[in-house]
Amino acid sequence: MNKTIIVSNRLPIELQFENEKMHIKSSVGGLATGLKSIHSDGNGIWVGWSGITEDELTPVQSQKVDEALDAHKCIRVPLTEYEIENYYHGFSNKALWPLFHYFQAYTEFELEQWDSYKMVNNKFAEIVIKHAEEGDTVWIHDYQLLLLPQLLREQRPDLTIGFFLHIPFPSFELFRTCPWRDELLYGVLGADLIGFHTYDYVRHFLSSTSRLAGLDVHFNEVNYGDRTVKVDFFPMGIDYDRYHSAAIEHAARPEEAKSQLRKSIEQHNSNNMESRLVLSIDRMDYTKGIPNRIKAFEYFLNKYPEFKGKVRLLMLAVPSREKVMQYQHLKRETDELVGRVNGQFATVNWTPIWYFYRSMQFDDLVDLYASSDVAMITPLRDGMNLVAKEYVATRIDGNGVLILSEMAGSAQEMHQALLVNPNNFEQLADSLKTALEMPEQEQAIRLAALQKGVSKHNVETWANAFINSLTEIKSQIAPVF
Ligand code: UDP
Ligand code: G6P
Repeated sequence: MNKTIIVSNRLPIELQFENEKMHIKSSVGGLATGLKSIHSDGNGIWVGWSGITEDELTPVQSQKVDEALDAHKCIRVPLTEYEIENYYHGFSNKALWPLFHYFQAYTEFELEQWDSYKMVNNKFAEIVIKHAEEGDTVWIHDYQLLLLPQLLREQRPDLTIGFFLHIPFPSFELFRTCPWRDELLYGVLGADLIGFHTYDYVRHFLSSTSRLAGLDVHFNEVNYGDRTVKVDFFPMGIDYDRYHSAAIEHAARPEEAKSQLRKSIEQHNSNNMESRLVLSIDRMDYTKGIPNRIKAFEYFLNKYPEFKGKVRLLMLAVPSREKVMQYQHLKRETDELVGRVNGQFATVNWTPIWYFYRSMQFDDLVDLYASSDVAMITPLRDGMNLVAKEYVATRIDGNGVLILSEMAGSAQEMHQALLVNPNNFEQLADSLKTALEMPEQEQAIRLAALQKGVSKHNVETWANAFINSLTEIKSQIAPVF
């Protein structure tokens, strides 16, 4: 039976050694968390990077890593420190990430990094080819591997190749600024099916394809040589039942079985009857609009002083790409802003912002979502944003308000959220007031509609829609001899 090979830069688990002891933890980020349940249920394998560079591993550790990955149906692509510096921190995260998220001023185009990006995409191709049997399907994910579809096609035309981009595809005016735009376009066009989260990203991609590569585009198909490449949108979902049933199970736990985090939040709430919790969760990334959110919260407390002492912003920022300068600046700016707001408003009984700079595992995340009256998710630009969907899934009592940036892909589906422009402080502050004062009945109506959408369009329906579309395309193509 043919198998599906998932390929992404990061594997769903991350390995670390501490005093010779190996630790395994789940990777953070929508790609890994979303695809994990698809992978664990299927018969396929996942090819990617383990999170440790080759330079850090002794031969014994290397073997341990392989064994651990094997148990999780994962295969690693060994990457050196140089490659991580240039391909990952470099071209992927200093050129493509900012460019595709409209942060042009942060974009660096360095030849050495581009060369490394090409080398590493070739390395991924080699490993995929080693493990691919005749007729297998390869599903490649995200901006770190834009060249991989074509590299595989050249060497293994028997494979069915799908590509999905988890971040926005920018408008032609932005994309055209990349010196290696043609190579990137032709790289992706090696796939049989190219998927994006939203229709807008599809349009942008097709516009770049026709204007830069001069290829024929008919509706959502590109004629490329003797092939037709299909381009479509598949909004990614979450494992709704997992979040929803975990929230039900946590709520039913007796006091002694509750997590420390939940106990602390509940304890705090029972001491302050009027206290309301506003949640924000993101990777510490400049695309997520973290400083804007803090400034808007500060503005809110000044504009509506009646909420002082009654609202807390619980902000979880997960460390991410800490070797890239802009991420270091963002961390510093965030620390300062949190300090400024807390310094300005705190009383002995009240700290306006609870700030956590760390990652949390599934159970704690569920408790955070389930304990919060409002989720404030206001990225400046975001391919999809699964946190918004996870918040909705854990609301089991029919209440909870989602404030969501209109710049997130998920806003295109989640119309019953309070949609905001993340750059508009006043709107953010007013939406927060609206959310905190929203009548229970309105909360329930909005939430029910959101839950209906998020539970129906879950991660499984997303993956099935993509794979079915890929299979259908392939069945229309004559076999290669
Ligand atoms: N997440 C996590 N641990 C944390 C915080 C977040 O595993 O401490 C997960 C979260 O549950 C979500 C993902 O990270 O599934 C973030 O995905 P999203 O699409 O919101 O943003 P991305 O990080 O992919 O840009
Ligand atoms: C986003 C990207 C993923 C990436 C994740 C975490 O979700 O789309 O490709 O894996 O962020 O970032 P990292 O650089 O730590 O893999």
